[in-house]
Amino acid sequence: MEDFKKLINTDKLPRHIAIIMDGNGRWAKNNGKPRAYGHICGVQSVRTITEAAAELGIEYLTLYAFSTENWNRPEDEVKALMSLLVSTMEQELPTLIKKDIRLTTIGDANRLPVEVREKMQSCIDKTAGNKRMTLNIALSYSSRWEITAMAKKIAELSIQEKISPENVSEDLVSSLMCTADMPDPELLIRTSGEYRISNFLLWQIAYSELYFTDVLWPDFGKDEFYKAIVDYQKRERRFGKTTEQVTK
Ligand code: IPE
Ligand code: IPE
Ligand code: MG
Repeated sequence: MEDFKKLINTDKLPRHIAIIMDGNGRWAKNNGKPRAYGHICGVQSVRTITEAAAELGIEYLTLYAFSTENWNRPEDEVKALMSLLVSTMEQELPTLIKKDIRLTTIGDANRLPVEVREKMQSCIDKTAGNKRMTLNIALSYSSRWEITAMAKKIAELSIQEKISPENVSEDLVSSLMCTADMPDPELLIRTSGEYRISNFLLWQIAYSELYFTDVLWPDFGKDEFYKAIVDYQKRERRFGKTTEQVTK
């Protein structure tokens, strides 16, 4: 097996990697287990990839854990996911503190059960001063929800006469997104062989490199993660310019 870690150019690491962690249900089915078991095993991949990202020196890791649309899943699955969130937060807090990782979340927290909200907030508060890496969990998140919330804020600022239409710039829009203090992800990974974005970070991934793999999330380990970064580093990011312009 190729050692993908050795192939990574540590001078050209993406600052921000976002991941659509997909395929827990199919992984469970393939193993003759209930879907909830797939989610439990998916947590191990979250640990592994968080550790790998922090070790490499990635500054921001955003993980799509639960979408606005996921609220429409069967009630027992939603409940299982919410209680898994609480227990995972309880278990992982000491590791986050020890490894100097700051936890943040993006999404509509108002829809979360109070226990989940409180647990999340307590972990966010207890890790707020950590510096090594930001682990950003998208929870009850969808991009259209975020963009709509941004539009509401602009409308309010306008009514309060704090801004006028000519002040609405790309920078202002970015500053009103949930990811205001983060760089845009240079790399977006989706597991499980689905080729779609599923309402994730539409504004922020305008120029991200997309990487899709058939590997199901519970099977996504460090080597798969390194492989994605190596692939990303082979790409030429032109941002609308010509090859000659970006390679000179
Ligand atoms: C991803 O795995 C986890 C969540 C969306 C919460 P899925 O549960 O979507 O797994 P599949 O896509 O059904 O296999
Ligand atoms: C996207 O996965 C959301 C998360 C990974 C949390 P889904 O499994 O919900 O997406 P679709 O339904 O395949 O688009
Ligand atoms: Mg899925």
